[in-house]
Amino acid sequence: MFPTHRPRRLRTDGVRPLVSETDLSASDLIAPVFVDATTDERVAIESMPGHERVPVAEAVDRVEEALATGVEAVMVFGIPESKDDAGSRAYADDGVVQRAVRDISAETDAYVITDVCLCEYTDHGHCGVLEEHAAEDPTLTVRNDETLDLLRNTATSHAEAGADMVAPSSMTDGMVGAIRQGLDDAGFAEVPIMSYAVKYESAFYGPFRDAADGAPAFGDRRHYQMDPANRREAIREAHLDVEEGADVLMVKPGLPYLDIVRDVREEFDLPVAAYNVSGEYAMLHAAADRGWLDLEETARESLLSMKRAGADLILTYFAEEIAESLSSDRADRENTNP
Ligand code: PBG
Repeated sequence: MFPTHRPRRLRTDGVRPLVSETDLSASDLIAPVFVDATTDERVAIESMPGHERVPVAEAVDRVEEALATGVEAVMVFGIPESKDDAGSRAYADDGVVQRAVRDISAETDAYVITDVCLCEYTDHGHCGVLEEHAAEDPTLTVRNDETLDLLRNTATSHAEAGADMVAPSSMTDGMVGAIRQGLDDAGFAEVPIMSYAVKYESAFYGPFRDAADGAPAFGDRRHYQMDPANRREAIREAHLDVEEGADVLMVKPGLPYLDIVRDVREEFDLPVAAYNVSGEYAMLHAAADRGWLDLEETARESLLSMKRAGADLILTYFAEEIAESLSSDRADRENTNP
């Protein structure tokens, strides 16, 4: 008798769920939200269909909308009322994120994570304080060690406002250690750090830079974000963050870097996060708009692949729609097997 082996036996509707190796659930997902201090009204983000910047007064409503879909955690990004060369609105007590997080943590049950970076807050759009003459000389870049103080102050001010977790994303050497020390000194030893440990200098961040108004005014970020060609360096970056006290390790972007998600998963025991970034979101929307791809199916498959690669949690602009569709799946199953 041929074939001897018939893997298809395990693909019937009845048995597929029993032998499924990977699960996607709403509790794995983190929904990014954008709070904008420059507006009194919601503003649609053109390159990220379905997403908006909301005024501080609507931050709580925005988070309640996410919670209603089954998502339990949000990542808060801020667009400040003004920018300067040191990004001072990033660490102001009455900054946009600080105000929004105070309200969100007082009035909702969301688990609140904040992005800790300076690029949305500096007038030059880089993720830290610049070397003098950086605008004229592309070999000059962000001053690493001076930036650490600002990141430490930013993270501490987020914790003071009520953030449950902070997520530094600036790729400054030593950022996790500096922030850990700042949090501990300020009495926030229990606030975990999710490090954007392995963050590549990626062209897939384009739509986000529209959304958060954080594109560099000149040059690019290749002097501080990682070279997409590098794999061993990812492990080295993650080791440094673990030594400095990171609690969760993130790989970013997600889909084009699934090999790195897998590498980090295999090397470390800490939870691993993958960031399904703005460009990954925009490209599926663009193709779906043309009728070339099914949006929900491709979004789900993308997120499932990140889990399969080893991610425990996923930051994604699809969080709310996928959480909703996962819960309607469950309702369907409950209806068919009473
Ligand atoms: C930095 C930050 C960025 C993203 C998250 N945090 C932008 C960047 O590094 O240029 C990008 C997220 C995305 O593209 O979805 N504050």
